[in-house]
Amino acid sequence: MAKRPVTGIDGGSQVPGFEHAYLNGQVLPYQQAMVHVQSPAVKYGAGVFEGLRAYWNAANQVLNVLLIDEHSARLGQSARLLRFEDRFGFDQIRAAVLDLLRVIRPQQDVHIRQTIYLDGDGAMDANGPVSMSVIAVPSSRPKGFDAGIACQISSWTRINDNTLPPRIKCTANYMNGRLALLQAKQDGYDNALLLNSNGFVAEAPGACLFLIKDGVPVTPGVTSDILESITRRKMIELLSEYLGLRTVEREVHRTELYSANEVFLCGTAAEVTPISSIDRLSVSAGKPGPVTRELQRLLLGIARGESDDHPEWRTLV
Ligand SMILES: Cc1ncc(COP(=O)(O)O)c(C=O)c1O
Repeated sequence: MAKRPVTGIDGGSQVPGFEHAYLNGQVLPYQQAMVHVQSPAVKYGAGVFEGLRAYWNAANQVLNVLLIDEHSARLGQSARLLRFEDRFGFDQIRAAVLDLLRVIRPQQDVHIRQTIYLDGDGAMDANGPVSMSVIAVPSSRPKGFDAGIACQISSWTRINDNTLPPRIKCTANYMNGRLALLQAKQDGYDNALLLNSNGFVAEAPGACLFLIKDGVPVTPGVTSDILESITRRKMIELLSEYLGLRTVEREVHRTELYSANEVFLCGTAAEVTPISSIDRLSVSAGKPGPVTRELQRLLLGIARGESDDHPEWRTLV
């Protein structure tokens, strides 16, 4: 029977220097982190995952994982909502990331993917056996970080809380975003924005969204069928703490995006990615705005530990 390796974030392959994977308490050669074709993970997408980032500080020669506690807590919550057997507690989930990074010892920024999934060969209603994997790959700034990206409002509708809960990071959820992303790319855009089943703006396939209109930050609320994004919450804090701006969390119409002064995506992978046009209508002058730029600066400064602020966001590897 064919076996497939657990792969990197973008289906990536083994990268020199990163040839290890964590699997169920052990750090193994990357190619040995296997999952069976008959597993519910393969058959039904029965998995939950986190994408984390760790930032290399060249001046201090240290690597910090960003917001590891928040990611560990959300992964446990995702597994609970899918009624997986309770095999891995918060401490084990958290330690798994650090265990792998302490073997690989990267001296560059990395993206980490941690998955809890249904192993074995069970049926659709299986609750176990449960496995946990972690892999890490080199990473850099997301596409469009400097110049912005072109987005398309998708004709695909965002999944909703009564179908597949977007609030959690369930592997199967991502088939919804995949359809939107493939359509957008085929149509010549960089990314998609999905509306929810009530016709309001939800999010991108892998990131949340903010707009700035007349100095007021606005973002779809957590009942708009979005992932409960960790970065989104931190953006709200940064906007308040450093820029004195209170974010309004509410339903957002698509045409509000066309007339906004600034629109950006946020997320672990997206960091803060400016959107320069939507449906070929340019956002303001088509250039990243001042609030977007400032949030990029603040986020990277804290993440990399170049700023002394918010040390609780960083965990030393
Ligand atoms: C669908 C979706 N929305 C939003 C986000 C942003 O979430 P976070 O800030 O927790 O990374 C992600 C993942 O990164 C995502 O997959």
